[in-house]
Amino acid sequence: MKSILLLARSATTGAALREMEGLRDQTASLPGVTRVLFAFAEEGTPSLRSAMDELAQTQETVLILPILVPVEPSFVIGVKRSLQRWQGADTRPWPEIRIAPALSRQAAMRELLAAAVGATDSDASMVEKVATPPALEGSVVPAQRRRVLVCQGGPCIRAGAETIWGHLRNEQKRLSLRTTGEGTMSAKTSCLGPCSLAPVLQVWPEGTYYGGVDEAGVDRIVESHLLRGEVVDDLAYLPTGTKQRLRD
Ligand code: FES
Repeated sequence: MKSILLLARSATTGAALREMEGLRDQTASLPGVTRVLFAFAEEGTPSLRSAMDELAQTQETVLILPILVPVEPSFVIGVKRSLQRWQGADTRPWPEIRIAPALSRQAAMRELLAAAVGATDSDASMVEKVATPPALEGSVVPAQRRRVLVCQGGPCIRAGAETIWGHLRNEQKRLSLRTTGEGTMSAKTSCLGPCSLAPVLQVWPEGTYYGGVDEAGVDRIVESHLLRGEVVDDLAYLPTGTKQRLRD
């Protein structure tokens, strides 16, 4: 018997949530499965962190099933690092946790693909017709003065940057940061430079680098830097012109 966690990357719309709920219900009907949750590794709720909090209380094996194709090796490494970090900070006895192979490596994938291809012949309601797109509407130029760049380069991803990105985006939405104070927008970036400080994010307009950031660090940066304009000194790294490592 096992508990299953369906892990998707990101979703913010109701339609995507309903899709995950449908997958959850289908998975729950499988033999040997006692409980099914779903979560998002990046943006969206429930987050991987909150789902793991719930599953930490189970005595059964937890199987994490990544619902994404393709699965970058760095994605799995980042998920493992985040899990290790949370387990290290939480003294409860955790269940055994396993991560299933990518869907594309499952033997049944061929049948799934065949069913999807066949559906286009047998059930027209399953197939979306692509129509000519409407003319683009105009865009509002954002007035927000603050930008948070979240590095998604290889070392940062392996250090759990995707969960950090998801936590920031969820907090940005929860606290309405776009319209609070000077207004904050956020973006993923490629390597920001100081890889040994992974995971790294940078706050503009000051250009402050933060390193070794976890969810609690994001919360402090939001509360202090984004909302009050005060740099979080013990997480910040200044451009000294010399090589730096993460402080203990
Ligand atoms: S990969 Fe993130 S700073 Fe280089």
